[in-house]
Amino acid sequence: MELQEAINQRHSVREFQDKPVEHEIITKIVQLAQRAPSWVNSQPWQVYCAMGDSLQQIKNAYHEQDKAGNHGQPDLSVMGREEWAPQAQVNMKQWRHEIVHHFASFDEAHEKMTNASDTLYHSPVILYITIPKASPDWSVFDAGLFAENLMLAATDNGLSTIPTYNSVRFPAILHQILQVPEDERFIVGISLGYPTADSINTYQSKRRPVNEVLHFN
Ligand SMILES: Cc1cc2nc3c(=O)[nH]c(=O)nc-3n(C[C@H](O)[C@H](O)[C@H](O)COP(=O)(O)O)c2cc1C
Repeated sequence: MELQEAINQRHSVREFQDKPVEHEIITKIVQLAQRAPSWVNSQPWQVYCAMGDSLQQIKNAYHEQDKAGNHGQPDLSVMGREEWAPQAQVNMKQWRHEIVHHFASFDEAHEKMTNASDTLYHSPVILYITIPKASPDWSVFDAGLFAENLMLAATDNGLSTIPTYNSVRFPAILHQILQVPEDERFIVGISLGYPTADSINTYQSKRRPVNEVLHFN
């Protein structure tokens, strides 16, 4: 697959088939992702692969937290929508409006999106990316480069992905089940697998026109 095709084809999938992903493919895409650049080649990332029993335990534990009404406390703080810069708020509102109208009705949108989120998208695999707690902000940037490389490599290997905040809401649960050292923090979880044919997976998000983001001087 051409790089341009992989970039254009990658989009977030929110309902995966109940089909496992081979260890070999996971190893291959993580190895490709490792080619990402990083500050002085520090390569701050670690990847913890949750699948099978460990992922089921995470899903169960998250379900219990949700039932108890707990919202979680991710390692990277979450900012209220109204505090974001105006253009980012406009973009987020537009995305919400469009994805709701992608479905037949508001009720269907609400039901499918809530169910997707509550079940962690029926993901057969979640790759959790961590960096050491002793890191500069630059390492978060590096982890982002690594994550995008990983998602493009997955696309190139016929897999779908979604990066989520949702999957890293309860770091204490993840430390315990995945046996992640306490001196690491969770940046993002990337769900990996094969998509269902459901309409939740066919929405293609839009981007601002390039002349609104590119400034020649
Ligand atoms: C750091 C990060 C966290 C995200 N968390 C969630 C999430 O918790 N739930 C969700 O449905 N989508 C989540 N997304 C997916 C975004 O909504 C999605 O990337 C965006 O709408 C653009 O759509 P696309 O990925 O299909 O191009 C997240 C994306 C990023 C980069």
